[in-house]
Amino acid sequence: MTLLLLPGDGIGPEVTAEARRVAERIAPDLAIETRLFGGAAYEAEGAPLADETLAVAKAAKAVLMGAVGGPQFAAAPRHLRPEAGLLALRAGMGVFANLRPALCFPALARASTLKPEVVEGLDLMIVRELTGGVYFGQPRGVETLPDGRRRGVDTQVYTTDEIERVARVAFELARGRRNKVTSAEKSNVMETGLLWRETVTALHARDYADVALEHILADNAAMQLVKAPRQFDVLLTDNLFGDLLSDEAAQLTGSLGMLPSAALGAPGTPGLYEPIHGSAPDIAGLGLANPLGAILSLAMAFRWSLGRPDLADRIETAVGRALDGGARTRDLGGDLTTAEMGAAVLDAL
Ligand code: NAD
Ligand code: IPM
Ligand code: MN
Repeated sequence: MTLLLLPGDGIGPEVTAEARRVAERIAPDLAIETRLFGGAAYEAEGAPLADETLAVAKAAKAVLMGAVGGPQFAAAPRHLRPEAGLLALRAGMGVFANLRPALCFPALARASTLKPEVVEGLDLMIVRELTGGVYFGQPRGVETLPDGRRRGVDTQVYTTDEIERVARVAFELARGRRNKVTSAEKSNVMETGLLWRETVTALHARDYADVALEHILADNAAMQLVKAPRQFDVLLTDNLFGDLLSDEAAQLTGSLGMLPSAALGAPGTPGLYEPIHGSAPDIAGLGLANPLGAILSLAMAFRWSLGRPDLADRIETAVGRALDGGARTRDLGGDLTTAEMGAAVLDAL
């Protein structure tokens, strides 16, 4: 088995089914295996990520995930929630660098809620730290104080090596693009933010002085993203800010359903590929989901893990052609179903 498919919950199975059709068309010899994951696995196997599923993921060349979560799992203990399974998968695979490219396809400049002249030609790469920060820091939990009040704690924590390894990915990517990294943190109020800025600055001076480096406070980055998003080339940031800023960047491309991602770890280890959207409980089961984020995630898997950048290019070109031809799901202002959008991409292939 080469590609492990984890459809997950909600619209996850709907969008990954279309990605699978594309994979089967373009690489008929690719060995694909499917496993339960997230809430679906919790219901059937008692845990969102079975030990065996993690072992299979680590033995694959690439993992393509749909989405996990949903209101029906809100009452499950925190460590058995679908989202906990996703965090465990990311940590277990060691995929610390999350590439989230926000590319505005020419045909979609008018689909965004922003003015076309703001988003036209947008080609931004968010590099989000994915296995550290407040998502994993200890201590965390909710306790009841002697006087009956409850107290919740999350801990934001980063070490220099965690910052350096993800910053390296950002600098390397920038060299193959427009050669600029913007590093976003809150060094004005957070200790980890200050360490982040100092560490990125030192690494830049040591190994990447040829790349332009800018620092920006994360709140300003959020504003600049909607004001003038094309000023950014590679936007480097931590786990939590990266989560927020990538949803914001997705809307610049027309829809949250458009954005793919690649999570990468040490060289030679499998990557984890997933559209950045969630399980979309509001439209799950209705055939309304946009599958392009999942299909473009498959393209990223071909580029970064499966050694077939040529197939990645073909998929991305086919998505562009399908959009040029007017194919639109509802989120993009059209009326195609998920399967019809997948078919439009297959036709373009
Ligand atoms: P969401 O991303 O699921 O949905 C936000 C909005 O965007 C909804 O209106 C939804 O209909 C729309 N949307 C999302 N993907 C779409 C697509 N492909 N096509 C068309 N419209 C799309 O975020 P949420 O509603 O805040 O979260 C729902 C659940 O998903 C939660 O349980 C959350 O934890 C989980 N989640 C999972 C992932 C993941 O698995 N990687 C990511 C984000 C959220
Ligand atoms: C994402 C999601 C996840 C995150 C959740 C579901 C754990 O929002 O992939 O962007 O916060 O990382
Ligand atoms: Mn998110």
